[in-house]
Amino acid sequence: MDKLLIQGGSPLHGEVSISGAKNAALPILCASLLSAEPLHVTNLPHLNDVSTMLRLIGQMGVEVTMDGSDGLILNSHDLNNPAAPYDMVKTMRASILVLGPLLARCGEAKVSLPGGCAIGARPVDQHIKGLQAMGAEIRVENGYVIAQASRLKGARIVTDMVTVTGTENLMMAAVLAEGETIIENAAREPEVLDLANCLTSMGAHISGAGTDSIKIRGVERLHGASHAVMPDRIETGTYLCAAAATRGAVRLTNTSADYLDSVVQKLREAGCDVLAEPDGIVLKAPQRLKAVNVRTEPYPAFPTDMQAQFMAINCVAEGSAVIRETIFENRFMHAVELIRLGADIKIDANNALVTGVQHLNGATVMATDLRASASLVIAGLVAQGETLIERIYHLDRGYERIEEKLTRLGASVRRVR
Ligand code: UD1
Repeated sequence: MDKLLIQGGSPLHGEVSISGAKNAALPILCASLLSAEPLHVTNLPHLNDVSTMLRLIGQMGVEVTMDGSDGLILNSHDLNNPAAPYDMVKTMRASILVLGPLLARCGEAKVSLPGGCAIGARPVDQHIKGLQAMGAEIRVENGYVIAQASRLKGARIVTDMVTVTGTENLMMAAVLAEGETIIENAAREPEVLDLANCLTSMGAHISGAGTDSIKIRGVERLHGASHAVMPDRIETGTYLCAAAATRGAVRLTNTSADYLDSVVQKLREAGCDVLAEPDGIVLKAPQRLKAVNVRTEPYPAFPTDMQAQFMAINCVAEGSAVIRETIFENRFMHAVELIRLGADIKIDANNALVTGVQHLNGATVMATDLRASASLVIAGLVAQGETLIERIYHLDRGYERIEEKLTRLGASVRRVR
């Protein structure tokens, strides 16, 4: 199993390009299931989760071809197997995103129920309830969601909590439903808007995406389209944190500060100079960061997917700060690993009190989930001496060519076996 060996202590300097957003790419790949005409997708990140999704829709009958450049053409003309087996769903929870499109296009779907995962139970009850409100008959049998509907009907759906993939699944189901669907308490995440933009270019009628009330007027069929995936705001935020923690100065290109307000605000509070550019973002770190309090909330507030990275920067900042996780019940597993590197962190339920120390010291640590891995990379880049991060397959799910990008910024990072 691959590991990452980091020789800490070098400030990050230079320029690096940000990839397309994983969390926008995954639902957009599923949107290809909705039309018999081809969907052309560009700016797809090269990530294991993207390959898994391509394999999953491929075994349903979607033909995937390269466009001769960096994009893919997805053709679901011959969609013949509306099913997602456990083996695939268990490695990537976002596989549940095929449920809405399959049901809308094929009138049936058999999708394995995702289990819990390292960061929490993560049920999909809101996806199921919303589809039932649209007239689907759904039963859960032998670990599978088995759904049927001759044609879904528009409905007013109020979700119990803000759910990103739940909103996306229901929006994809509603675009082919009969009549109007309104999703209230919808997720406002930029990736939901990117998916809505893709669906709109396929001929869907959607208004209000990016707000908490999305209105969809169903159409008989969607047509082919071309869509470029938005930049990855979490990858962007992660490199900003890595530069901040190592007292570096970086320019990130092919990205935007537009969807990063809460993160940029916290980095400025920590003492960083952050400048938005038309095609990117520039950060210059202070000599010593100030610890900042963070509370995770749905967008536009501070993202749970940036919580672990901010814990890492607080570990070496001046003063103490509280990090409060409100989205997932078990998302502090990186804390114990950071403590192994010399961090001072006290956990009390969903609060972590982090007191900055002068130095972290390299050690062997274990990655437990995607963003936890990112926080360990940041800590390893700051720590004195060598840090070995085990189980980096989590990182490969969400960060494209991370060791190459960090090396370009002057870090000493090597993949070892
Ligand atoms: C998405 C993101 C993930 C991010 C998360 C929160 C993708 C592929 N993944 O995950 O990176 O961390 O949003 O921003 O986009 N919940 C229920 N029942 C449901 C659905 C959700 O109880 O039917 C709960 C979850 O357990 C969690 C909260 O709602 O506590 C939010 O989860 P949700 O927004 O659905 O996360 P995902 O869409 O899985």
